[in-house]
Amino acid sequence: MSKKQVYVYKAFERFWHWMQAILIFFLAFTGFEIHGTYNFFGFRDAVRYHNVAAYMLIILIVFAIFWHLTTGEWKQYVPTFQNIKAQLDYYIFGIFRNAPHPTKKTVLSKLNPLQKLTYFGLKVLVIPVSLTTGLLYMFYRYPSRHGIESINIQTLEVVAIIHTIAAILLIVFIITHLYLITTGESITSNLKAMLTGFEELEDERKNISEEKIERSKLTTQKID
Ligand code: HEM
Repeated sequence: MSKKQVYVYKAFERFWHWMQAILIFFLAFTGFEIHGTYNFFGFRDAVRYHNVAAYMLIILIVFAIFWHLTTGEWKQYVPTFQNIKAQLDYYIFGIFRNAPHPTKKTVLSKLNPLQKLTYFGLKVLVIPVSLTTGLLYMFYRYPSRHGIESINIQTLEVVAIIHTIAAILLIVFIITHLYLITTGESITSNLKAMLTGFEELEDERKNISEEKIERSKLTTQKID
């Protein structure tokens, strides 16, 4: 199989990915200080930094939504149940036996079925829940400053619990994601791709033409 360097991740995509990673990591770090898990910045500063990072994340998300819609890249995240079992089998067994990846990565289909499902869940559920509860938390806590007493939340408890559950889910995702980064063609190939944009993938067009040549050779042999 011939391989070639393919431009998989565009500049904005890489910027969005790394900014999002930094912001979510920072939000988790300051968030769990607010939660009382440890003391690093001090409660007041942790809250202040958490709020700033939250606004930055919201702005980033607005730009990312615009980019995904205008480029059509949102289609990459449409979930599919096809090949899910093969992908799971690969991560549980195949990977330890040096088996080949069950799905081929191409520019038009960058994500395997498990990634599609996970990222879809993050985009439509976990991140929106984290954001909404975060905003409710913020405005409930400082109602007079933003003048939205009309939300009329009686207690912060449920909001805080849901916000914390979403935070834990995001951390579980990050840990799994960090492991899965190392499971590309080589340990660093996925990381390099998200840094440079380029990844070594099978040359689809070359493979097709090689296949054609093979097939025509076979037909000529048969005629002979
Ligand atoms: C745009 C999104 C977000 C907004 C608007 C937001 C806002 C807030 C606010 C206002 C608080 C309470 C601060 C206070 O006590 O004054 C808070 C707490 C917290 N946040 Fe966020 N946050 C967001 C995203 C995140 C993310 C992505 C994580 C983690 C990955 C996170 C983790 C936490 C945690 C663990 C707490 C403490 C919850 C508790 O113990 O009650 N937040 N957040």
